[in-house]
Amino acid sequence: MKNDVRNATANLNIDDYINEQITHIKQTVGNKKVLCAMSGGVDSSVSAVLTHKAVGKQLTCIFVDHGLMRKNERDEVEAVFKGEFDMNLICVNAADRFLKKLEGVTQPERKRKIIGEEFIRVFEEQAKVYGDAEYLVQGTIYPDIIESGSGESSVIKSHHNVGGLPDLVNFKEIIEPLRLLYKDEVRKVGLALGIPEKLVNRQPFPGPGLGIRVIGEITKQKLDILKDADYIIREEISNAQLECNVSQYFAVLTDLKSVGVSDSNRTYDYTIALRAVSTDDFMTARWVRLPYELLEHISNRITTEVPNVNRVVYDITNKPPATIEWE
Ligand code: XMP
Repeated sequence: MKNDVRNATANLNIDDYINEQITHIKQTVGNKKVLCAMSGGVDSSVSAVLTHKAVGKQLTCIFVDHGLMRKNERDEVEAVFKGEFDMNLICVNAADRFLKKLEGVTQPERKRKIIGEEFIRVFEEQAKVYGDAEYLVQGTIYPDIIESGSGESSVIKSHHNVGGLPDLVNFKEIIEPLRLLYKDEVRKVGLALGIPEKLVNRQPFPGPGLGIRVIGEITKQKLDILKDADYIIREEISNAQLECNVSQYFAVLTDLKSVGVSDSNRTYDYTIALRAVSTDDFMTARWVRLPYELLEHISNRITTEVPNVNRVVYDITNKPPATIEWE
């Protein structure tokens, strides 16, 4: 599928699309080996499963755990792709080396660059281990192609994804089985391939992960606080069955400490900010009017269950002027 242009109104038959892609991948790859950088996100997961359907164990997926994933994320990815789908999945535990590189770094753009570069380095090392792989699978989707084609707009944030890999690693060809699909179609393909709904309908998660949701310097302690707080907001939005009404929701660990009180004692601890937005295209977004009772419940849970947090605030800013992520 080399053609980069599609007719937006064309009606896509999902089963036909899957079968065409499987045939195409089989023909391209033959009996050679394939690598895939799997992030656990929707696009790379669907690309990997589609490729796995075509070439089975010739495909090896590499999941770089940079320690900036959400709570339990790595386990979930392993359970689905290794457990249910029986795919070759290598999880590289690189959390310590990412933290070391990020020591003392506070500037958002610098963090993004470091995380992006280190990701490539870890992947490169792994690619050498599987040096006989000739093909690389990427989860590029149609909006990625359109966006990268428009060179006029200024860079507000340098988005990190695995787009830079092929330049550094010597592959014969890049396989992009979703390059002509919009996000909703990618989800349909994912469901048709039997990927669990929970994973397919996942909210977007930025490449630099929690690295851009810990404001200021990233430390293991701050990451642990954020993971626990973020888990609570996700759990409560799910319990309230609001996942479909909110495009993206998460916690941010601000770099702000303030005075509080606990059991008649003074505390001086972190402030967690909650963010929940609805959007069609992520270029603009509105903050979601979550019910006060739900916000109160989340706040109570975070301040009682997560150590070192004594204050929770709710971000009531649209995009623009704010962006969705805080960094
Ligand atoms: P912003 O913060 O720019 O976010 O309003 C818009 C959407 O993009 C996601 N985002 C990223 N995704 N790498 C990514 O893959 C990044 O560096 C990155 N920064 C922001 C953000 O989560 C939101 O969905």
